[in-house]
Amino acid sequence: MSDKLFIFDTTLRDGEQVPGCQLNTVEKIQVAKALEVLGVDVIEAGFPVSSPGDFKSVVEISKAVTWPVICALTRAVEKDIDVATEALAYAKRGRIHTGIGTSEYHIRYKFNSTQDEIVERAIAAVKYAKKKVEDVEFYCEDAGRTDNAYLARVVEAVIKAGATVVNIPDTTGYCLPDEYGAKIRYLFEHVDGIHNAIISTHCHNDLGMATANTIQGVLSGARQVEVTVNGIGERAGNTSLEEVAMILQSHKEIGISTNINSRKIYGISRMVSSLMNMPVQPNKAIVGRNAFAHSSGIHQDGVLKNRESYEIIDPKEVGIDESAILLTARSGRAALKHRLSVLGVELDQEKLDKVYEEFLKLADRKKDINDDDVLMLAGKDRTAMHRIKLNYLQVTSGVGLQPVASVCLDIAGEKFEAAASGNGPVDAAIKAVKSIIHRTMTIQEFLIQAINRGSDDVGKVHMQVEYDGNHYYGFAANTDIVAASVEAFIDAINKFVK
Ligand code: KIV
Ligand code: ZN
Repeated sequence: MSDKLFIFDTTLRDGEQVPGCQLNTVEKIQVAKALEVLGVDVIEAGFPVSSPGDFKSVVEISKAVTWPVICALTRAVEKDIDVATEALAYAKRGRIHTGIGTSEYHIRYKFNSTQDEIVERAIAAVKYAKKKVEDVEFYCEDAGRTDNAYLARVVEAVIKAGATVVNIPDTTGYCLPDEYGAKIRYLFEHVDGIHNAIISTHCHNDLGMATANTIQGVLSGARQVEVTVNGIGERAGNTSLEEVAMILQSHKEIGISTNINSRKIYGISRMVSSLMNMPVQPNKAIVGRNAFAHSSGIHQDGVLKNRESYEIIDPKEVGIDESAILLTARSGRAALKHRLSVLGVELDQEKLDKVYEEFLKLADRKKDINDDDVLMLAGKDRTAMHRIKLNYLQVTSGVGLQPVASVCLDIAGEKFEAAASGNGPVDAAIKAVKSIIHRTMTIQEFLIQAINRGSDDVGKVHMQVEYDGNHYYGFAANTDIVAASVEAFIDAINKFVK
C-alpha cells in the first residue's frame, strides 16, 4: 500500500506575494475552488494580519471551499494569531501556520536575539495558537541554513507544545538535494516525538533545485509538501505542484500517492497564469507550451508510431489534448498529414504531395510552421472565417517623425477606415483599429518573437486582450511586425465580436 503525501498549496500566499501577481478576492476564490477540484489537501489562503485584502480573502475562501484545510499564515506574534483566528472563523477545518526564523542570519541580524530566546518564542506561539485551533503548523524559517542540532531542538520543542505539522523551509533555495534530504533524516533520527507531527517541505527555487529538494525531503520521510501552481513564488519561485504530482505518479516504485487529479493540472496552470499575468516559460516541465512538443523529424516519426518513444507522460494525463507535432523543414509527410488531420483537413496522396512541396519551400524560410500556415497551404485559411479582417495598413514612422497609421478593416464585407498617431508605429496602428471597433478592451500581454536571426525574419506575435472581464488570445505571424501586431489584435477581437 502506498503512503499518502499531503499537498499544501501556497499559490494564494507565497505565490501571490510576487509583485504584479496580486489577485482580487473574486479571483482568489476562483483559484481556490479550482485547487479544491484539483484535489489539494491544504490551501494556504493568505497572511490575514498583512492587509485587509488578505484578511477578506481568507474569510471568503473559508466560506467557498469545503474539503481542503484552510490555512492562514502568521508570525510568532499573538496579534497575528488573533487576526488569523478571526479570519478562519468560517473554515470547516482551519489551520494556523505560525513560525519564526531559526538560522543565525535570522536570529542574530533580523531579531537581534539568541537561540534560547527563539525557542521560547516558538513554544509560546504554538501554545497560544493551540488555544485557538487544534491544527497548528510551525515553520522554522530559513531551516535550510539552520544548524541541524539547533533545528532538531526547535522542532522537538514545538511538537511538545502541540504543533501538528512542522515545516522545514529552504527559504533561500540554498540547499543541495542530498543536504536537504539529510536534514530531514537528521530530524527523524534526533527529535523525540517526531512521529507525533507531520514533517513538511517548503523549498524555494533560487538555484533551480526546489523540486529535487522536495522529492529528496519526501524520500527522507516528509509527508507534506508546500507547492505552488506553475512554481510561482518569491524570487525564483517555489516547488511546482505539477512537477511533484507527476514525479510521484510516474515513479510508482516510490510508493507515495497524492489526491491530485492530474487531468486538472493544465487547466489550473492556464488559469493561474492568466489571472496573475505570469506567462509560463515554454520549456516548463509538465505545463510549458513545448512540454509535449516534438520538432525533429526523427522524434516526430517515433511519437507518431508510438507516443512512448519520446514521451514519459501521456499529455491527456495532465489535461492536454495531445502532443504537439511541430512542423519544421525536417518534418516528413507523415507529420504534415497528421497536423492537417488534427485541423480537420484530410487530403488524398496527390494533393498531400503538392502541399508538402509548398510546405518545404515555406519551411526553408520560416523555422517552424504554425497551424495557420498549414491551413493556408492546404487552401483553408483560418482567418477566412473571421468577421473582421485587415484590409490594408499603412504606417509612417522614423526618427524625428510622429508615428501615424492608417488602417482599413473589412467588417462582415463592409469597409471602415481610420487613422491615428501614437508613441510608436504599433501604438498608432492599434489606436486606429480601436477607433473603428469602439469597445473598451485592453492589451494585457504582448509578445513579439523573432523566429530566426536575419532582418528578413518573420515576427510571431502573441497577444492577450481583456474585454468585459474575459481574456482572449490572438496570434499572427508576418515579416512586418507592425502588421503582425495588428493582425494578432484583430485575431483576439474576432474571438468576442460575433
Ligand atoms: O519561505 C519561507 O520560509 C516561507 C515561510 C513563511 C513558510 O514562506
Ligand atoms: Zn516561502
